[in-house]
Amino acid sequence: MYQDKVFTAIVLAAGKGSRMHSDIPKQYMKLHGKEVIYYSLRAFQESNVDNVILVTRQEDISFCKNDIVDKYGFTKVRNVIAGGDERYWSVMKGLESAAGTDYVLIHDGARPFISQEMIRNSMEEVVKCGACTLGVPAKDTIKVVDKDNYGIDTPDRRTLWQVQTPQSFSYNELLKAYEKMKLDNSSAITDDTMIMEIYMNKKSKLIMGDYRNIKITTPEDIFILEIFLKNENYLK
Ligand code: CTP
Ligand code: MG
Repeated sequence: MYQDKVFTAIVLAAGKGSRMHSDIPKQYMKLHGKEVIYYSLRAFQESNVDNVILVTRQEDISFCKNDIVDKYGFTKVRNVIAGGDERYWSVMKGLESAAGTDYVLIHDGARPFISQEMIRNSMEEVVKCGACTLGVPAKDTIKVVDKDNYGIDTPDRRTLWQVQTPQSFSYNELLKAYEKMKLDNSSAITDDTMIMEIYMNKKSKLIMGDYRNIKITTPEDIFILEIFLKNENYLK
């Protein structure tokens, strides 16, 4: 409990990891001897979040229950459920399973570098404004390209942020947004702040994340995270 409200973290681990080209899904690969997913589940376990819903592939549910949740004693995980074919369907399943909560923090299980400070800042901000996400100011110049890859526009870099997770929302509002989305059959959705913009006309506040809070996506990311996590706070 924080400010008398119930907070639920939805940790997403139902992807196939096709850009990783590995035999086992990237969320279960080992980083310093522990599964990638271990780090975010531990961070939520140690935070003020009340409970956690882990969304995974149907075939990995018993592995997650036995070899992750029970093994490491993640008592806040109240449910391990099957996700869907797209990230937003996995979020939807998580939301359906989170009824009764006041706020949700949606986190990519493939982002192990999540800290107590990031979780705390997300919880504080979502109570204030109802929708927020971690992110970092873009370091590179970003181009808009045409179909032949010619640059056709250069947005002012000072207005560009790269979005990370957790993304945090008032539960009822995000659920409403998803109910509208279900009727719409849209497919270009990449995150939940976008769903709030399109279906609720609601802006999310960007709060400072960390340049190390990267999402493991391609093979070199594993090596980068090994270095970032070489820090006593993460390797206990
Ligand atoms: N995710 C999910 N359900 C899906 C797709 C993705 O729960 N149907 C999760 C992933 O497990 C990951 C997070 O959403 O933690 C971010 O997605 P992404 O990095 O795209 O992971 P994958 O979809 O697994 O990878 P790829 O796109 O390379 O196949
Ligand atoms: Mg994906």
